[in-house]
Amino acid sequence: MSDHNTDSERSEPNDPDVPARRNFIARLGAIVAGGLASLVPIAAGAAALLDPLRRGGGDRAMVRVTRVSALPADGTPRKFTVEADRTDAWSTYADTPVGAVYLRRTEDGVVALNVVCPHAGCFVRLADDRSRFQCPCHNSRFDLNGDIDDPSSPSPRSMDALAVEVRDGDEVWVRFQHFLPGREEKIPV
Ligand code: FES
Repeated sequence: MSDHNTDSERSEPNDPDVPARRNFIARLGAIVAGGLASLVPIAAGAAALLDPLRRGGGDRAMVRVTRVSALPADGTPRKFTVEADRTDAWSTYADTPVGAVYLRRTEDGVVALNVVCPHAGCFVRLADDRSRFQCPCHNSRFDLNGDIDDPSSPSPRSMDALAVEVRDGDEVWVRFQHFLPGREEKIPV
């Protein structure tokens, strides 16, 4: 057995400062852990505040987008910017662009599609002949209902349809939201 202890091994048992140091480190650890735990709800609250479309436990607000009379009667889609009030910790910004939708009239009412491609998030365009949608990034193709109409399309799902309400006979309101790209199922974000 060696008699050659290190300085710390020799000094610790008789050092009157050791218990105090241990208590200080333990208290410091508790303070740090408590602080981190309190940051979680703060971060969650901040995320909800900063997202104008996700307040009230995940509910998405209906946003007024346009009027039915502004949509072509022949069913051709028309693109609209979606605006909503955005609130952060300090201010509210009225009518801030939060995305865009294609709207079109059908026999069953107004259809809304998010313009974001479900493959990787590029903006889908209406083809020049207005017969379909296509994505400029990897050439996913969708029919006017938003369904994939080319089996070689890399998009894992159809374009994301959004809930629509027509109020007062002419106002088009959309439940605007985004979904995770690259997934077969629609997962709201
Ligand atoms: S992002 Fe649209 S096809 Fe890839």
